[in-house]
Amino acid sequence: MTTFRLVCRTCGTAREPGPVGYTCTACGGELVVAYPGLAPVRPGATGMWRHQDRLPVSGDVVVSLGEGGTPLVPVAAEPLGVASALVKCEHLNPTGSFKDRIASVALSIAAERGLAGCVGTSSGNGGAAAAAYAARAGLACVLFALADTAEQKLLQIRALGASVHLVAGLGHDAAATDSAARDIAALAAECGLLPMLTGGRFSPEAMEGATTIAFELAEEAPRTTVVYAPVGGGGLLSAIGRGYGRMPAGPRLVAVQPAGCPTLGPALRGRFDGLSGPCTTGISGLQVAVLFDGAGAVEAVRGSGGHLTEVTDEQVHEAQQELARQGVLVEPAGATAYAGALADAAAGRLGPDDRVVLIATGAGYKDSAALGRLAGPKPAQRIEAHDIRKVLADVLR
Ligand SMILES: Cc1ncc(COP(=O)(O)O)c(C=O)c1O
Repeated sequence: MTTFRLVCRTCGTAREPGPVGYTCTACGGELVVAYPGLAPVRPGATGMWRHQDRLPVSGDVVVSLGEGGTPLVPVAAEPLGVASALVKCEHLNPTGSFKDRIASVALSIAAERGLAGCVGTSSGNGGAAAAAYAARAGLACVLFALADTAEQKLLQIRALGASVHLVAGLGHDAAATDSAARDIAALAAECGLLPMLTGGRFSPEAMEGATTIAFELAEEAPRTTVVYAPVGGGGLLSAIGRGYGRMPAGPRLVAVQPAGCPTLGPALRGRFDGLSGPCTTGISGLQVAVLFDGAGAVEAVRGSGGHLTEVTDEQVHEAQQELARQGVLVEPAGATAYAGALADAAAGRLGPDDRVVLIATGAGYKDSAALGRLAGPKPAQRIEAHDIRKVLADVLR
């Protein structure tokens, strides 16, 4: 059983975990989960629940679909000029993204506390994860998604039985995103639902699920010198930073963000109010006009000696293609870490002694427009059965 408290980032006031509500009652600040120490792993347990005693789940209610324990797959180190490059295959989680780790913790907490379910915002992947784990728990799932959520992600959410609604401006406009997220978090408390907005500001307990990525990497690749992670709302990067922060030493953490949604650069200079202009990136999952985890993301970069690398959508598409050439099929957001590493290699920011981990966050099947770009315009040819020998010979010639 984990013992933990919720502590205000601003004034340090601590409180015991409660049923719902995640703002500091003393000053209205952001809460973070604080533990008395780092508990050992559960021997014999598999997946992310090996780390159960390091997560804010007090009892033994675990809503699981087999998340975590994702493979680390080597890719060519030469293009990066480094000693090794490993892809952490988060796209192989049950619903195809790292958000499963977060949803598994969220729905476990909701079940443990007798809540009716969860409510959240989503660009698609968080929603699909919430929908699956809510279905698993037999609880309600209500989602407010970006108006241009990728069709496959919406279908995945609907097929899993969640109630999903598209909200104008969400994701693309800083003020609309901020006010919708705040409203939903407040309504969650009112309706007895767990907020499942994948950022520490709104869902500090659930976001701890993603810290298990760092726990796994520390075990599986202890010599890693640098980890590349994509940034949308900053929750993933922030959680990886918190995970490594609970262990003696960690690699430098590099945040990779599309140049068309530059929220982290200003945050590193002390400005957290989000985009002042339009969000122009087309990378689904990384269109978040205001950081949901600004303080944590800044802390992860600064505290690890890392940095921010911005990439164009074109660089992301090229990185997606390069990973596909090596058999790793991810959605564009899932290739963004690799795009950042390639950009850093070209800029001389990686060295021959570096051991790199790239977080591949989302599965290729999530975004059929991007798949179509990879596949190219030529459709599969219709042939007669008697042509098979000839076609084979032509292809192999
Ligand atoms: C595939 C994928 N990668 C990365 C991210 C960005 O994560 P975060 O918003 O925690 O920065 C998302 C968020 O939706 C995502 O779906």
